[in-house]
Amino acid sequence: MPPISQPFLFLIFCALMLAGCGEWREGNKEQVKPPVKDYIRAIPGEDEEVPLEAIHRGEVLVAYANCYECHKRDSRSKGPSFADVAKRYPRRQVYIDLLARKIISGGTGSWGYPVMIPHPDVAFEDAQAMATYVLSIDKR
Ligand code: HEC
Repeated sequence: MPPISQPFLFLIFCALMLAGCGEWREGNKEQVKPPVKDYIRAIPGEDEEVPLEAIHRGEVLVAYANCYECHKRDSRSKGPSFADVAKRYPRRQVYIDLLARKIISGGTGSWGYPVMIPHPDVAFEDAQAMATYVLSIDKR
């Protein structure tokens, strides 16, 4: 047995334990504070058929409005990605209307992001078409 004293071994043991704990804590901290909740939980429901026309109209309306200042199709920016919105809500009339109203009146609280500005100049039918387009992303 080499002449390493027991207190010395004990110190090394403590140092290793502390190092291990530190790492574990850091790793854990990151998991505890997610930056934003993306679609938290998909709302169950079947998608309804919608006319292809409405989807195309919505796509054009979204492209000509200011939506892409805060949204991207596939990744989050100031607002949730449209693909995540589509994953969260089934494409049904009730959700199309809900989102159309939200597009017009703006709001906060559904995603943990800051506020969506209102779009009072958007007509309800146009907002419905926009919502239809968004909810059709990655669906058929
Ligand atoms: C100033 C930035 C901004 C602009 C411009 C903007 N949005 Fe948003 N949008 C947001 C934010 C932030 C949220 C998340 C709101 C929340 O958490 O309730 C959001 C949420 C949404 C949602 C999901 C709403 C919900 O309750 O789940 C839809 C759909 C949407 N936006 C569509 C649009 C469309 C269509 C346009 C263009 C007409 C648009 N947004 C323009 C910031 C913006």
